Amino acid sequence: MGRAGFTRPELAAACARAERGIARLRRMLDAGGQGFDAILDDRAAVSAAVREGRRLARLADTLVLDGIGGSALGPLALQTALRPRRRRLVVLDNVDPDGVRARLMGLDPARTAVNVVTKSGSTAETMANLLVLLEWMERGLGSRHVRRWTATTDPEKGDLLVLARRLGVSTLEIPPNVGGRFSILTAVGLLPAAFLGLDTDALLEGARAMRRHCWSAAPERNVGVVGAVLLHGMATRRGRNIQVVMPYADALIHLADWYRQLWAESLGKRRDRRGRVVETGQTPVTSLGATDQHSQVQLYMEGPRDKVVTFLEVLAVSRDVRIPRRHQDLDSLGYLGGRTLGELIAAEKRGTEVAFTAAGRPNLTYLLPRVSAHVVGQLLYLFEFQTALSGELYGIDAFDQPGVEAGKLAAYALMGRKGHEKDAARLKRELARRRAVI
Ligand code: PA5
Repeated sequence: MGRAGFTRPELAAACARAERGIARLRRMLDAGGQGFDAILDDRAAVSAAVREGRRLARLADTLVLDGIGGSALGPLALQTALRPRRRRLVVLDNVDPDGVRARLMGLDPARTAVNVVTKSGSTAETMANLLVLLEWMERGLGSRHVRRWTATTDPEKGDLLVLARRLGVSTLEIPPNVGGRFSILTAVGLLPAAFLGLDTDALLEGARAMRRHCWSAAPERNVGVVGAVLLHGMATRRGRNIQVVMPYADALIHLADWYRQLWAESLGKRRDRRGRVVETGQTPVTSLGATDQHSQVQLYMEGPRDKVVTFLEVLAVSRDVRIPRRHQDLDSLGYLGGRTLGELIAAEKRGTEVAFTAAGRPNLTYLLPRVSAHVVGQLLYLFEFQTALSGELYGIDAFDQPGVEAGKLAAYALMGRKGHEKDAARLKRELARRRAVI
């Protein structure tokens, strides 16, 4: 942290205050109230997901993932970070007709498998795309298409489960005590990862290693605790209500998007655990370094002092690119020739970090040795832990999402789902009134 950040004594005091929150979180996890921690030990669930991913990989080179929010952002983050070579994931996480049509147009059903993912088994966007995909696959392959599907959903309830059973589609479970945005290390992320040929063992081992660290290191030396208390402190004591998450690596941009959802949906809450109106949360924004140095950084550097920046810096790029020594007589080329793009992006990040600090713009950096399955597994657990602990520091329930549910119910009502007639009438009246005003 820079000068606008926390001093050592402030950090020590904040870590001491966090102890009760850490204990509360531990009790919740031990009682099974939340399962994002325990899923790392569920060997049977892990092997079922990996087996299923590999089964689909024997049938197809493309996996269409039909899901939204926590059911889609994790798999996308894994694909982008770990760059599979032979297979790919196509994510349908929106119902924009042009987008869906464009994605399907380039695909051959005979080389495609489908993973439909919805915890509730009823989200409108996912269920609509499911029907589109069913027809598309059936038209291409007849009844043979069924073995190319896997439904990942709640083990006990929801229409997706009913439909999967009706059609004879294989299913995988999302444990009832794991919410969408905390589900990346369940079948939600593991099936696509296995399909893509990613190293799921290393991913999980990384997550377990970070779990050991987060639950054993002393608070002031604990990256999960320090991250949570700094970000919470920045929001509540320094008015830094925006967190800019800025990886300096293309590979990590979707991981930053995954984290953005985790942070936003978990911490943006109207009420605290006692029911008092608190309207908490810190708005996460993603930026990509070095690209966004030329689009956003001006604002971060000189605009309102309402931001804290979280950098993700990768120390070793997988394969660097040497900058050729050509036209060395020109000033703007001469100093670059013979260096590497990896050196340049590192210099850009460090320069920006120093400039932010000098300008009193607080920032913190996660230094990643490289982007590998093990390191990504560590990051995933770290961010889940940090988010869950932040929920305790704010005194809110980080695991519910009443605001998301409200949107889902409105979509059901306006599209005529049975049981939502009263809401439909109210919404239509409200929409008519708003149009009249405009
Ligand atoms: O994190 C969450 O709970 C949400 O973002 C959900 O993942 C999202 O709304 C999709 O829900 P479902 O998996 O039930 O289709």
